[in-house]
Amino acid sequence: ILTKLQQECATPLPVLRQVADDMAADMRAGLAVDGGGDLKMILSYVDSLPTGNERGLFYALDLGGTNFRVLRVQLGGKEELVQATEFEQVSIPQELMFGTSEQLFDFIASGLAKFAEKEGGKFHLPNGRQREIGFTFSFPVKQTSIDSGILIKWTKGFAVSGTAGKDVVACLNEAMERQGLDMRVSALVNDTIGTLAGARYWDDDVMVAVIVGTGTNACYVERVDAIPKLQGHKSSSGRTIINTEWGAFSKGLPLTVFDKDMDAASINPGEQIYEKTISGMYLGEIVRRVLLKMAEASGLFGKSVPEKLTMPFVLRTPDICSMQQDQSKDLQAVGSILYDVTGVESDLHARKIVVQVCDTIVKRGGRLAGAGIVGILQKMEEDSKGVIFGKRTVVAMDGGLYENYPQYRTYLQEAVNELLGTEISKNIVIEHTKDGSGIGAALLASANSKYDHDC
Ligand code: BG6
Ligand code: GLC
Repeated sequence: ILTKLQQECATPLPVLRQVADDMAADMRAGLAVDGGGDLKMILSYVDSLPTGNERGLFYALDLGGTNFRVLRVQLGGKEELVQATEFEQVSIPQELMFGTSEQLFDFIASGLAKFAEKEGGKFHLPNGRQREIGFTFSFPVKQTSIDSGILIKWTKGFAVSGTAGKDVVACLNEAMERQGLDMRVSALVNDTIGTLAGARYWDDDVMVAVIVGTGTNACYVERVDAIPKLQGHKSSSGRTIINTEWGAFSKGLPLTVFDKDMDAASINPGEQIYEKTISGMYLGEIVRRVLLKMAEASGLFGKSVPEKLTMPFVLRTPDICSMQQDQSKDLQAVGSILYDVTGVESDLHARKIVVQVCDTIVKRGGRLAGAGIVGILQKMEEDSKGVIFGKRTVVAMDGGLYENYPQYRTYLQEAVNELLGTEISKNIVIEHTKDGSGIGAALLASANSKYDHDC
């Protein structure tokens, strides 16, 4: 089973190259016409990125990763930049992911209300101004302006009823009204867009942002004249940021029966196939499915199949990450994690196999993520010779998987280097931007503020 898995998950250079080429082709198809390819290529209505001149007090809400976060950011212009940030975060209760839209948005608004209440009037705004929010909402949204957008569908295991097809800012406004909270959303952004804005604040060479966390996605700076489906959109910079929603990509991926079964059993079968192959929500589950098969077919953990191992999602990506960090001779940590999480008793032989299964799935994920990044860079380079590959270009990365899984990061970087070659990859900097999307959303709220923030 292991040998077959390794063969089927292999990502030699030709496979990676095909994925990069297909990603670039799907980007073009999605820019030509809505529904042209797997990628939605959504217009973000962010045409200019932070300059450093942003000033004032802003709030940011961040929904869509593992945690829900509320932030307060004091921007001090060129001299003082980000003066202070404070934030609170809570994990999203499981039941809210399957509840109603009102329940979810009430949870968000009440989190914001509690956060604001704690200030106790410390942050007074002049002339009865409303406090302004940058709202990071990390799901596919068809933006209708910088401060409004319709939820296309939920991803990442969310199945909240009554939100798809609605303006998520209107949903939040209604919830804030129910809480008696007088604040306004000035910018609605995807987490990739927030990350790009946050990273660009510090570094002018940032052109792409990628999230590899619970889910995965990428955005990048595009020329308005390279977007045929965009008629009549005016951008003073001639550029705009496109949210690719690359998690929906599906072409040429080396998939196994374990991936196909997991997809079939998911709440969104046939959707988000790239996301299901490379992102944090799913890697642990793929490994569990392989181990279950090994337990059933070849008695990997003894005669009986442990009951807990049959439970979907019981093995999480942080567990497989911890197992892969075990450097001990007897793989003690692997043994304890397997026992704690799945109730499995294992000998050294079984533990070694488990580590190899984790590595196979993580290697495929990291390398395919790297190929996706090269696909985006390739498309940008084709449209503007030398501007991407011929100079320093930064890809800002965030998300728990990228941040916490060293092997994943290494595999991703190796794939980028293999695909681009030494000369070009010297110019491409793939860099972790921690929690940039909160500050990024606040910066975009400032750029789209209805007030003057001169002082
Ligand atoms: C955070 C960003 O750092 O990473 C969020 O601020 C983003 O906007 C999140 O959604 C994704 O990470 P994860 O691992 O929680 O899905
Ligand atoms: C999912 C969402 C996308 C988000 C990504 C990373 O793919 O659809 O909008 O950016 O996860 O959080």
